[in-house]
Amino acid sequence: MTRRRTAILISGRGSNMVSLLEAASHAEFPARVVAVISNRPDAPGLARAVAAGIHAEALDHKRFAGRAAFEEALDARLRAHDVDLICLAGFMRLLTAPFVEAWRDRMLNIHPSLLPAFPGLDTHARALAAGVRFAGCTVHVVRPEMDAGPIVAQACVPVLPDDDAERLGARVLAAEHRLYPHALALFARGAARVEGDHIAYGQGIAFPDATALAPLDG
Ligand code: GRF
Repeated sequence: MTRRRTAILISGRGSNMVSLLEAASHAEFPARVVAVISNRPDAPGLARAVAAGIHAEALDHKRFAGRAAFEEALDARLRAHDVDLICLAGFMRLLTAPFVEAWRDRMLNIHPSLLPAFPGLDTHARALAAGVRFAGCTVHVVRPEMDAGPIVAQACVPVLPDDDAERLGARVLAAEHRLYPHALALFARGAARVEGDHIAYGQGIAFPDATALAPLDG
C-alpha cells in the first residue's frame, strides 16, 4: 500500500491535527503526514506537531503582499514536500479559486456543522438559535465556495436541553476527532472518491452514512 503524502494546514490549537497525526502514526494507515504548516507563527498546534516528531513550519500570511503571493508560497512549500493530499484542520484563511483548483479533489476540510446547514463561523450558537435537535461535523472535499464541496463523511451528536455553545462545541469537537481520521482513511485509499458533485464509495462500503457511523459506534 502506498501511503499518500499528506500535509495538514492549521491556524490554531490543532486538536484535529493531533487526531490525524495519531491515526497516521500507524503503519497501516493509508496516509502519512509529511508536513504541518500554519499561517500563524504563534499557532499552538505547531509545537504539538513538533512534539509528535512531524516537520512543522509557519508561513505568516501577514508577510505577503496579498492572497495570491501567500498562496504561491504555500503552494511552493507543499510541492517541496511532494504532497499528494491536504487536510485543512482549523485553517482560518480563505483560499482563492486558483489555489483550490490547483489542488482540486486533493484537499479536505472539516467543518463543525452538518453541512449544508450552518456554513461559516459561530456554528454552535447558530445551531442553538435555530433550535435544531442534532448538530455535528462534516468532512468535505474543498471547492472554491466556502464550506462547500462533496461530503466524504459526517457525524451527528444530540443537542441537549442545557447546552450552550461551549458545551455543544465540545461534544461536536469530540466527534470531529473521530471523524476526520476516518474520512481521511477512506479518501486516501480511494474508498471514497469524487464523482461529479458527490462522493462515490468503493466496494464493501454499502451505505455512505454507515461509513461515518459504524466506526463512531465502535
Ligand atoms: C474545529 O472545530 C474545526 O471543525 C474548525 O476549526 C476548529 C479547529 O479546531 N474548522 P482545532 O484547531 O482542530 O482544535
